[in-house]
Amino acid sequence: SRISLYRYKGFIFPGEIILSGILQELPKFQFRENDVIVASFPKSGTTWVQEIVYMLTHNLEKSDDSSEVLETRFPYLEYPYPGIKSIAKQKGQRHIKTHLPATILPPSFVSSGAKLIYITRNPKDTIVSYWHFVRLLSTVSFIGSFREFLQLFLSDKVPYGPFYDHLRTYFDLQKTQNVLIITYEDLKENPIQYYLQVPVTDSEAFDVAVATTFRSMSENKSVNYEHWKDIGFANKNEGKFLRKGVVGDWKNYFTPEMLKDFESWRIKNEPDEICKFKNNL
Ligand code: PPS
Repeated sequence: SRISLYRYKGFIFPGEIILSGILQELPKFQFRENDVIVASFPKSGTTWVQEIVYMLTHNLEKSDDSSEVLETRFPYLEYPYPGIKSIAKQKGQRHIKTHLPATILPPSFVSSGAKLIYITRNPKDTIVSYWHFVRLLSTVSFIGSFREFLQLFLSDKVPYGPFYDHLRTYFDLQKTQNVLIITYEDLKENPIQYYLQVPVTDSEAFDVAVATTFRSMSENKSVNYEHWKDIGFANKNEGKFLRKGVVGDWKNYFTPEMLKDFESWRIKNEPDEICKFKNNL
């Protein structure tokens, strides 16, 4: 891989984020009470939750091919583009995506009263999705095998890792703050259950669920990141950002030996709370 990685406050970051200096700027960033933040470890279902949240906060308006792309509507906090200066200037309700662990979030989150949704996913499916993603992303163009990527993941050498430390920071934050933790698997099983905090009728909730299925989103240029191939962010000869969108695809990738390595890593690192929380992982 061509990407450089750095460790910062216990987590791994890609060079482009560290070298942009944005992590030094972040502590000054002011969250506001009506901000909605979608946080996650990469490849956990962020994009999916972003679009659901966006619809629920925009009169259930469905985005389509002509809508602004999700990256603009729902900027990525720690990414150099559009950058926190531009997010800071934005008027009205803001929608912010982040992969930062809670311990690195700007401290104003706590006093702001902003709402945050953290989505997490079976790490085995996350690893599979992540491997495809680092092949797709032109800045990385990972050429290693799935086995090699798994070893990097399990030795905490992928951006935003270690996975369980990331999750643990949000379990901790949830104890005192306005944080909703959901799983990809639960969302897939029953997407509508989480819309309850917003005043929508059953039929409106159904419309949002239909507009945000994997298939609908795959076909929607405003959310499917297909333009990345045109602007050189994604390799044209690789698959799609919205790749497969299923639970349990790991079974097509893990050999019994890989599963053994994964399990010993999981047992060593998984926080106690999570066992009660996700019995299907
Ligand atoms: S990123 O780059 O971290 O923001 O990626 P993220 O959006 O977290 O994760 C991408 C995976 O989520 C899948 N996805 C969906 N699944 C089901 N339904 C919908 N609507 C949906 N939208 C995105 C996407 O396909 C990636 O998972 P895989 O397993 O690779 O398909």
